[in-house]
Amino acid sequence: MENKWWQSEIVYQIYPRSFQDSNGDGIGDVRGIISRLDYLAELGITMIWISPIFKSPMADNGYDISDYFDLAPEFGTMADFEELLAETKKRGIKILLDLVVNHSSDEHPWFQEALKNPQSKYRDYYIFKEANERPNNWRSIFGGSVWEKLPDEEVYYYHTFHKKQPDLNWENPELREEIYSMINQWLELGIAGFRVDAITFIKKDLSFKSIEPDGVDGLAKCTKTSRNQPGIEVFLKELQERCFKPYDSVTVAEAPGVGYDELDDFIGPDGFFSMIFDFKAADLDVASGTEWFKPVAWTPEDLFNRLKTSQLAIQESGWGAPFIENHDQNRAPSKYLKDNQTNPVALKALALLYFYLYGTPFIYQGQEIGMVNFERESLDDFDDISSIDQYHRGMAEGLTAEEALAVINYRSRDNSRTPMQWEDSPSVGFTTGQPWLAVTEQSSVRNVAAQMADPDSLWRFYQNLIAVKKETPVLTHGQIAFPERTEEDVFLYRRYDEDQAYLVIVNLSGQAQTVVYPRPGELVVTNQGVTITTNDIKLAPFGAALIKEEC
Ligand code: NOJ
Ligand code: CA
Repeated sequence: MENKWWQSEIVYQIYPRSFQDSNGDGIGDVRGIISRLDYLAELGITMIWISPIFKSPMADNGYDISDYFDLAPEFGTMADFEELLAETKKRGIKILLDLVVNHSSDEHPWFQEALKNPQSKYRDYYIFKEANERPNNWRSIFGGSVWEKLPDEEVYYYHTFHKKQPDLNWENPELREEIYSMINQWLELGIAGFRVDAITFIKKDLSFKSIEPDGVDGLAKCTKTSRNQPGIEVFLKELQERCFKPYDSVTVAEAPGVGYDELDDFIGPDGFFSMIFDFKAADLDVASGTEWFKPVAWTPEDLFNRLKTSQLAIQESGWGAPFIENHDQNRAPSKYLKDNQTNPVALKALALLYFYLYGTPFIYQGQEIGMVNFERESLDDFDDISSIDQYHRGMAEGLTAEEALAVINYRSRDNSRTPMQWEDSPSVGFTTGQPWLAVTEQSSVRNVAAQMADPDSLWRFYQNLIAVKKETPVLTHGQIAFPERTEEDVFLYRRYDEDQAYLVIVNLSGQAQTVVYPRPGELVVTNQGVTITTNDIKLAPFGAALIKEEC
């Protein structure tokens, strides 16, 4: 693939509500982000993705936008945003905003107008159906029917997610024009591009027919009929041509439901997006991304196979976006390392495992210090609407209250949304007030200040991983291959070009392992658990290394 500017970026995701509060109201904000830019520059990242900061009633923490042109007052003002742009630019950091255009908030003036006046053109900006009962049995991602009845009319509207997130009607060309002009206004301001939310949902099966139920609620997952449906390519191509292409912007799409055989269309040389997130590895512990109340057992072998299949398919077509955390996932150490979630060697192994995969790596706030899941005592302690739904659905499908609570404690999206742990103090340096969501823990080791002061910390390890990537272009532009493995728990991949090769080797188990390896090599990065001898590599429990091979 031809080299593109965004391939060598290192992206850091900010969940603005929980990153840094600047005014003591307990809610993170743009001025808080500005105050931490030196921190991000020191870590070495080159681009930030900020989850939505636009005006919103916050039913889904900003993924329900009521004004695409203004900031939520709790996050700041347009002037703050322009200052953020200027300050990031000074430090060589680019900005990705979150583009949420599958749906708006029900408080968006378009929707409000559509409600007030059935004759208004805005009725057709959304999906309304006249009916005496809900028009079909599709289940929304956040639970219950996708249809919500209007109070005074025999009319329903469609929502893929929460009822406060009505879907925009992409079949309407006028709506599409409004979206494109909004996107281009932001690009004109000088942002680098977008992370594109839930974009594979914009096309529905227009027959709107009921399908075979798949739950005791008599409903069926709407993903079957409204995700990556035939015809979506027309909208996505238009979006690419009208917005992303003219600005040479970077886009990373949340595009669940896209098969590996369709990657050419999505991320090929003239694909709709620069890259897409693949959730197959992140969701290996649950029945599906929408039914995480059903946990699934997995082995390191499963993880390895998912990563390998994904990486080879992505390399075949375009470019990847490797990640192990985001604001919708539980914390990676809790998921992948289980009882070893605070083992400092294991944490570094996990970082090395994914960081040099093929693509532009993403780091989620707090990942660089090894933040872990929390344990809450009752449903009332949760904020996330999806967690609350999964709790109830789990019980309807046969879990006891205790089991349902355990499931959401483990998998809740709130796990990754707790305040960023900057220091060892009651509000962890996030706020001088009361944090909007309780902190995970006040820890003397899992905080930024302690880890920046410790040359052997996970934070320093990430900083080094980033520095090595920047000075070693083959770790960005080289091909990826997965050499034959002899040990199930040992991950291996090689990044190479005509002149050089680097091997990543990671023991994802608590047992020592030996791997036959007759090529001499030099350790470039390691968590101290790896020894190269004449014929093999010896790995301590969770030993991991980046090895420069002699070619
Ligand atoms: C995906 C986002 O990542 C998630 O946080 C949000 O709830 C849904 N899309 C709906 O916008
Ligand atoms: Ca604030």
